[in-house]
Amino acid sequence: MRTVTCTAPVNIAVIKYWGKRDTELILPTNDSLSVTLSQDILHSKTTISACKSFEQDRLWLNGKEEDITKNRRMHNCFREARALRKKMEDESSELEPLSTYKVHVCSENNFPTAAGLASSASGLAALVYTLAQLYELQISTSDLSRIARQGSGSACRSLFGGFVAWEMGSASDGSDSKAVQIAPETHWPELEALVCVVSDAKKGTSSTEGMQHTVETSELMQARISTVVPQRMANIKQAILNRDFNTFAEITMRDSNQFHAVCLDTYPPISYLNDTSRAIMRVIHEYNKDGVKAAYTYDAGPNAVIYAPRENMPEIIRLIAHYFPPPATITLSIITRSSHKKVIPIFPAGSVSRLLHTKVDDGPRTLAEDEALLNSQGLPKRLA
Ligand code: DP6
Repeated sequence: MRTVTCTAPVNIAVIKYWGKRDTELILPTNDSLSVTLSQDILHSKTTISACKSFEQDRLWLNGKEEDITKNRRMHNCFREARALRKKMEDESSELEPLSTYKVHVCSENNFPTAAGLASSASGLAALVYTLAQLYELQISTSDLSRIARQGSGSACRSLFGGFVAWEMGSASDGSDSKAVQIAPETHWPELEALVCVVSDAKKGTSSTEGMQHTVETSELMQARISTVVPQRMANIKQAILNRDFNTFAEITMRDSNQFHAVCLDTYPPISYLNDTSRAIMRVIHEYNKDGVKAAYTYDAGPNAVIYAPRENMPEIIRLIAHYFPPPATITLSIITRSSHKKVIPIFPAGSVSRLLHTKVDDGPRTLAEDEALLNSQGLPKRLA
């Protein structure tokens, strides 16, 4: 039996991917750009074992067995990775015929799934990266990102650390729709992120479903695709290369706002933000009045991710903790700056349930054998 275990990070887009021109191959309607967050705080971990004696492909997600044959996108990733391995085996008879063996896959997130924290991105990136290690595929990370893209669009960006663009490409077979690294995590170490987990029920409309409704019905979306995103991509890349926080922050906030505007322009409309999310936006704009010190962005859910230079973080954490006090069960001493203008009422305790302070960090990691989620029989060590 051959077993490999890897982790992959979460990425949070600053230029949003929202819309597909091909739903089967997962080809987007625009380029996007994201920042990779540290796996020390948020990650998906996957173990894959391949063994001659396994009778079928099996999958356990967060401790529960799932029917792998029902997961079409995952199936596509397996098919592509196996085909590449098969080619290698055909070229060298010394290689073990791993492409013919069934696999057992066990995967866990260290954060709640569907909480709007991009679990599909890290999950599918971990799966594809682990497959590549298991099969010892000799391909570049960008080429591997074309496989991850077919699992979930945003997953292609989680194969790199640092600052990552997903180039939409133009080929109908998706051969040029891939992720590329704009700058590594070491390029801008002062930039940090604060994830504000906003209490809410599970999101109503999935990204996959929501974005297609937007493509079909939103008129604003055409302007976004044809002019807004191409300009923003060029400008934000330059801002990242120059470590120009002002420009980076303004584009990030504008793009998050436009993404939520096209959601509202979808018919029937889609809304992912709630009162707490909107109040956080107001707090940040007030905080930025005398100079840009923080930028918010929101994905398909109410959670805020705030990007800011490290030196501003203690102040931002105090500000959020003041307006959105922690749940009663958590005791935290909050120091508020009395000089700060009250821009919004103080929200009920627990409106923001958790703050995760993290940094820009590296891409997927391969772990040691003793970190495996599967035992020597290829069965999960823990079940839910
Ligand atoms: C709002 O990658 O989850 O997070 O390709 O259908 O799996 P599928 O969608 P997904 O969409 C992510 C949308 C987003 C923006 C982004 O990450 O760029």
